[in-house]
Amino acid sequence: MSLRTDRSRAGIMVETRGLRRVFSSRRGPVAAVAGVDLQVEEGEIFGFLGPNGAGKTTTLRMLTTLLPPTSGDAWVAGCDLRRQPRQVRERIGYVGQTGGADLQVTGRRELVFQSCLYGMGPAEARQRAAELLSLLDLEECADRRVRTYSGGQRRRLDIGLGLAHRPRLLFLDEPTTGLDPQARFRIWEEVRHLQQLGTTVFMTTHYLDEADALCDRLAIIDHGRIVAEGTPQELKRRIAGDVVTIGVGDSDRALVALAGQPFVREALGADGTVRLYVDRGETAMPAILRLLDGAGLQLHAISMSRPSLDDVFLRQTGRSLREQAA
Ligand SMILES: Nc1ncnc2c1ncn2[C@@H]1O[C@H](COP(=O)(O)OP(=O)(O)O)[C@@H](O)[C@H]1O
Ligand SMILES: [Mg+2]
Repeated sequence: MSLRTDRSRAGIMVETRGLRRVFSSRRGPVAAVAGVDLQVEEGEIFGFLGPNGAGKTTTLRMLTTLLPPTSGDAWVAGCDLRRQPRQVRERIGYVGQTGGADLQVTGRRELVFQSCLYGMGPAEARQRAAELLSLLDLEECADRRVRTYSGGQRRRLDIGLGLAHRPRLLFLDEPTTGLDPQARFRIWEEVRHLQQLGTTVFMTTHYLDEADALCDRLAIIDHGRIVAEGTPQELKRRIAGDVVTIGVGDSDRALVALAGQPFVREALGADGTVRLYVDRGETAMPAILRLLDGAGLQLHAISMSRPSLDDVFLRQTGRSLREQAA
């Protein structure tokens, strides 16, 4: 099949065109994924960043053949999603948002069982389970029941279950949600390690720091649409200069006082907070203080930062991802 060879030669692991999924709800049809075009390259860690309800899980469920698209096309690991769903399933691993391990059996047993499901004989399955326990550093708890595992151990076991059949492409849906910082960091290390071993990873997250630290490239998704795409650096560079955040009693009046100033590229304000995108924070700050003082506005706080992914999100959607995740 020429399509398959062409796409795998091009080093593209996932490509979608106009991918769309509509659900019917009491209030009529809802486009959970409203036409997504994206490309994931072989060998990269690709992140899908967005708030709850953005359409991340729905996209992943379509790409893993668990949910038929309403319209659009996708090629996954060299296969046509619509025409070759079985081949897609053979080549990918999927770790869902909630995990699927049986709590009453040991981690080793779960891994052996999963390997058998993928057609390995008992000896090969035991061998594969041992490899995965070592890979994910789970040997210490391998022979305990899963219900005794910490959150991080459980999540690593979930990843092991997704890797049993040695997929070249692994989908991870919010792999670190609900974990403490140390356990999150461990998962990041495991994901980087998988990449070193040649696995392409397509993961979702609603954590800005995670997307920033882990992903080679990412797409920001909101209301089922991609609003920005690029490396974390590229996305942050789109907002050149510094961000000055001001806490002020009356943010509407502060906006009026500041928005037209030549050193202000863009100003956003609501609920007592004003955000200014400026070329140089250090020269802008004294001028901002003078202007607020001149307008008789009381300042509660002022701070300066380099743009973050949250600034990118805010710029694209008018809302803060950080506040939504909290
Ligand atoms: N089976 C379903 N039936 C109806 N609506 C759904 C269904 N699954 C998801 N949705 C809706 O689709 C939107 C996207 O959901 P989801 O893909 O789970 O978002 P995310 O993973 O980014 O949090 C949400 O508004 C959600 O309520
Ligand atoms: Mg989700």
